[in-house]
Amino acid sequence: MGKLKRKKPSKRTKTAKKTAPAKKPADFFESKDFLSLKEFHPGNFEFLFKLAERMKKDPAAFSSRLRGKSLAMLFQMPSIRTRVSFQVGMSELGGSSVYVDPQESPLGERESAKDIARVLSRYCDAVVLRAYHHSQIQEFARAAAVPVINGLSNSFHPCQTLADLFTIREKFRTLAKMNIAYIGDGNNVLHSLLYGAAKVGANLAIATPRGYEPNEEVLKDIKLISKESGSKVTLSNNPFTAIKNAHAVYTDVWVSMGQEKQREQRLRDFQPFQVNGAIMGKAPKDAMILHCLPAHRGEEITEDVIDHPRSAIFDQAENRLHTQKALLVLLMTRKKKK
Ligand code: CP
Ligand code: NVA
Repeated sequence: MGKLKRKKPSKRTKTAKKTAPAKKPADFFESKDFLSLKEFHPGNFEFLFKLAERMKKDPAAFSSRLRGKSLAMLFQMPSIRTRVSFQVGMSELGGSSVYVDPQESPLGERESAKDIARVLSRYCDAVVLRAYHHSQIQEFARAAAVPVINGLSNSFHPCQTLADLFTIREKFRTLAKMNIAYIGDGNNVLHSLLYGAAKVGANLAIATPRGYEPNEEVLKDIKLISKESGSKVTLSNNPFTAIKNAHAVYTDVWVSMGQEKQREQRLRDFQPFQVNGAIMGKAPKDAMILHCLPAHRGEEITEDVIDHPRSAIFDQAENRLHTQKALLVLLMTRKKKK
């Protein structure tokens, strides 16, 4: 008999160690839906980002992950990024999607939102809903038997924040203690960014005109969350203060969908908050530029800034696809509670 040899670890064990995905937090998607980041567990961000990263690197490896599954897409407002990224995302994952024409099926007009939710739940495995009022999405989700994803409401845009944070993480390899400066309106995009940044431990320096600050209730929540995570959130009315030490400078439109009647007033009020060469000239040299798009070139952001080599705006738009694919897989392959 030969000597007993110490057994080398098999290749399989080695590879498994290297590529094993992050452990799924026990309370991943405790709630059936993805309506806002308020309910999203902080540990879920990194879990989702790791999956999105693998999907971005090797999309073919996930090409049948949602085979046989279908997604209904109801948009009560226009969309390019959200609509196309969900549609292409489903197709890249081997599933299918159905776009419901908002002219034909306005929520609550031809029939109640509740009835639409119940019917779509019989055909589809999840629904993406974009609606003006967040309460409409909540009501819809309560009636739906399948997961409902908020594709933007007047209050929140959580899918956008997933891509925003993923884009910052992609460049700086971390999110904790990153300084994000947000210049502009205290709107849906900022509300979701507030929850996201506070939960991952990033700092957020906000500059809005007076009277356009984020919602008080959201700010109250953020105070508690940031105490836990160590994130620092500051509010001011001075964009030059906000961009000091920024790793990322973020802006959004001054007139969101549904606010068209306030356009003239808003254009006047927001003028000093334009993200332009003067502001970026005072920001740290490696600060990246972000915008959720659509952008109004020459209003909230100038041509030279949006097209600047430090602009990550189009990577950010691309990352909607990868982060939402991860979201779809996690929501649609979840084991149902008995
Ligand atoms: N950023 C974003 O949600 O774009 P759309 O309105 O085009 O979907
Ligand atoms: N705040 C903008 C975001 C668009 C993606 C809006 O609601 O119109």
